[in-house]
Amino acid sequence: MRLLATALAALLATAPAPDVCEALNVTVSPGPTVRYSEGDNATLYCHISQKRKTDNLLAVRWVFATSPTQEYLMIKMTKFGSVQYYGNYTHHFHKRRLHLLKEKHGTMYKFLILSLQQTDQGHYICKVQEIGKHRNKWTAWSNGTAATEIRVISSKSSDDPTFKKNHEAWKFFEDLYVYAVFVCSIGIISVLLFTLVILCQSLLNKRRSTVKHYLVKCPQNSSGETVTSVTSMSPLQTKKERKRKRKRKRNWSSHQLSQQKLQ
Ligand SMILES: *[C@@H]1O[C@H](CO)[C@@H](O)[C@H](O)[C@H]1NC(C)=O
Ligand SMILES: *[C@@H]1O[C@H](CO)[C@@H](O)[C@H](O)[C@H]1NC(C)=O
Ligand SMILES: *[C@@H]1O[C@H](CO)[C@@H](O)[C@H](O)[C@H]1NC(C)=O
Ligand SMILES: *[C@@H]1O[C@H](CO)[C@@H](O)[C@H](O)[C@H]1NC(C)=O
Repeated sequence: MRLLATALAALLATAPAPDVCEALNVTVSPGPTVRYSEGDNATLYCHISQKRKTDNLLAVRWVFATSPTQEYLMIKMTKFGSVQYYGNYTHHFHKRRLHLLKEKHGTMYKFLILSLQQTDQGHYICKVQEIGKHRNKWTAWSNGTAATEIRVISSKSSDDPTFKKNHEAWKFFEDLYVYAVFVCSIGIISVLLFTLVILCQSLLNKRRSTVKHYLVKCPQNSSGETVTSVTSMSPLQTKKERKRKRKRKRNWSSHQLSQQKLQ
């Protein structure tokens, strides 16, 4: 029973911890993604609300991340309001262009990044810690985190406004060109088809006319007309032959007669 009671007590003691994490409400604006041109000044705001105790102090850190595994602490404002730089950002060059300011009685922290460079592109995470005195010792009461992404657009290339306009105009003309080519090709194809059809028709007509010619000129040659020609021709021929035969017969008979007369 004692063991159970101590376990329960321990659980109760540790239970509020997750709640504590949720207590601090941190949001970053603008977000979730902001676009800046190279050389611009960026301003990021970290809003903090729902402190557990109004007397508690806040420590604010800004962390730069190119990927979830590569996080670099840039700057921190301690609970007493002094600003510290970390890592490569301790360099004079960065100290001059990175500024962290407390505003609105500590409910908002302004982070300035002057003259943005291509290397500043990435995720910016605002990590806030609520710190308060607990039994005369500074302890963390709650945490809050929020992030935004900065994209730096190169001024030289595609994202220069004039270049963009030109690019858009060029794209419009490109589209027009494609359209024109399309229409032209359709026209050419239709003309070709038309001429092909006309050619075919004229060829067919020629064939028909030549066939007709054939029929008129020599009916025997065409298979369809041979029967009629034969039938029509055979009586003529027989008539002629009969005539000839008759003539021959007559001649023969006359010849015979003459021969008989001669005898
Ligand atoms: C956190 O604060 C923001 C304003 O800073 C507010 O819009 C939002 O509703 C708050 N979220 C919660 C869970 O209270
Ligand atoms: C950036 O801020 C600095 C200092 O506040 C100022 O001199 C400069 O003109 C600003 N640049 C732009 C592009 O706004
Ligand atoms: C510091 O800069 C060097 C090169 O200039 C780079 O390799 C390194 O990753 C940087 N470190 C941080 C913490 O930004
Ligand atoms: C707050 O976050 C820090 C790390 O940034 C961690 O060490 C600490 O335990 C956290 N505090 C609470 C109350 O969750």
